[in-house]
Amino acid sequence: MRTRRSLLDLDDLGTEEFEEIFARTAAFESKPPERRLAGIACVNIFFEPSTRTFTSFNLAELRLGADVVNLTPTDLSYLHKGETIEDTIVTLSAMGIGVLVVRHPEEGFPKSVAMNFDGHVINAGDGTHAHPTQALLDLYTMLEEFGSLRERVVAIVGDVLHSRVAHSLIAGLRRLGAQTVLVGPEAFVPEEYAGEGVRIERSFDAVLGSADVILLLRIQRERFVSMPISDEEYKRRYCLDEKRLARVRDATIVMHPGPYNRGTELADCVLAFAGWRYAKQVLHGISVRMAVLDLLINGS
Ligand code: CP
Repeated sequence: MRTRRSLLDLDDLGTEEFEEIFARTAAFESKPPERRLAGIACVNIFFEPSTRTFTSFNLAELRLGADVVNLTPTDLSYLHKGETIEDTIVTLSAMGIGVLVVRHPEEGFPKSVAMNFDGHVINAGDGTHAHPTQALLDLYTMLEEFGSLRERVVAIVGDVLHSRVAHSLIAGLRRLGAQTVLVGPEAFVPEEYAGEGVRIERSFDAVLGSADVILLLRIQRERFVSMPISDEEYKRRYCLDEKRLARVRDATIVMHPGPYNRGTELADCVLAFAGWRYAKQVLHGISVRMAVLDLLINGS
């Protein structure tokens, strides 16, 4: 890292900064924000498709009064004209850009960008590694519901192995004292994930009545070659369908980072369940990202 703070994963944040981000998120949601990023240029570089993260970073930057530029791989000379990525980042630094928001299929790509950049880098998802702002918005959504996550049971269901969202979220839940249960077949939830505050359950049915939060994951098919179990078996064991939903307690909330695949990890009936919090997650995504940008630029 050269000169300034970046957010590459949740361990870049101290516990007080977690609290600060959640407090600022709440403040931004109760009162329209000031132009706290006026004069700051934010460049969003997404090498992978994104609807939620890309749009919410754009809105967060605009609502804070930043100057916003979006780059896609086709705009990047280094991919077409022989320049190196390091020289591209030096070029963006020379323009005085304050923040780079980077999504990339390779683990560690945002970190390598941060090594060559004078401003702040925010990881918007790197391979299967980390997605810190998604974890923050998921934690904020849970905290809004329960006040504290200490001893709350959070079941994360599905393809944990390939999920950068799950990897960041597990670390955040451990930090906030939750009891995390990872649910899925061995190929998606290897035994090595068990540890302090984290246990593994192969049967989804076994956690339905005890979970305070059920967070469903998409199967990240773009990150592996062949499905380790058949689609039919996966749905039979892990789809939150009508029968399983009937066994979920009324106070349980159901979440999904998106994009969700109807008929695979969830049935249509979940979208009508009173505890379905997807829309809240998406909405909080804007204000959480405003809070992160504000903390990096303006400090505590
Ligand atoms: N949750 C998430 O990262 O969604 P997008 O891929 O649409 O940004």
